[in-house]
Amino acid sequence: MKVALINGSPKANRSASGTLLADLQKYITGTDMASGSEKPQIAEYSCNQPNISDKIKVELQNTAVLVIACPLYVDGIPAHLLSCLMQLESADWKNHSIHVHGIVNCGFYEGIQAEPALCVLQNWCAKTGLIWGGGIGVGGGGALMQMPTMENGHGPKAPVEKALRAMADTICAHGTQENQYVSIAFPRFLYRMAAQMGWRQMVKANGGKTKDLGRQNRG
Ligand SMILES: Cc1cc2nc3c(=O)[nH]c(=O)nc-3n(C[C@H](O)[C@H](O)[C@H](O)COP(=O)(O)O)c2cc1C
Repeated sequence: MKVALINGSPKANRSASGTLLADLQKYITGTDMASGSEKPQIAEYSCNQPNISDKIKVELQNTAVLVIACPLYVDGIPAHLLSCLMQLESADWKNHSIHVHGIVNCGFYEGIQAEPALCVLQNWCAKTGLIWGGGIGVGGGGALMQMPTMENGHGPKAPVEKALRAMADTICAHGTQENQYVSIAFPRFLYRMAAQMGWRQMVKANGGKTKDLGRQNRG
């Protein structure tokens, strides 16, 4: 069974989407498969441009499971990913048993913020004639890359890891599941403080001032 892990973040390196897919891959390859079932083969794709090649279109059409991971952008999915999905939608999908899963991470603390973006992926699935296998909305995405993965369900990433493990089991069983919404096990007020410190450092590193953060451009 071939599983395509598609990173829809525009960042070429070091994205939260990449971290989530790396963890999912670890759980998929580590899952005990029922005897007789085929070991999943993982293929990784980066979708950080608004176009998708014909070669990749064909490869994805010959895949049992597609997992699309992306950041939440203005309550939706990034424009370059939408463009790729629209190109894929018009391809000739002969295999309607392909399952599609989505993982949308967001800067807000609450994973439920990603609900509209998961609906976009779910609607794309319906339009393309594929099967929606279920998704995860992950809150606190800004901190994911800094958080260690710990064994035995502990640590600040534990709720996210639990949801990814459940998705890995569903993928290996070629099944479907309900959408889930999770956040990091880290106090919300500390997450906000860390984010605000990060923005101040970033604006200064880019030659701006802290007060520029609240500036509104009125055209
Ligand atoms: C243009 C833009 C729009 C964003 N819109 C939202 C949003 O509507 N809600 C939210 O919670 N986070 C929003 N974010 C934050 C990203 O979802 C967040 O930083 C995410 O962790 C990035 O994931 P990635 O590293 O996989 O690209 C936005 C970020 C950018 C750059």
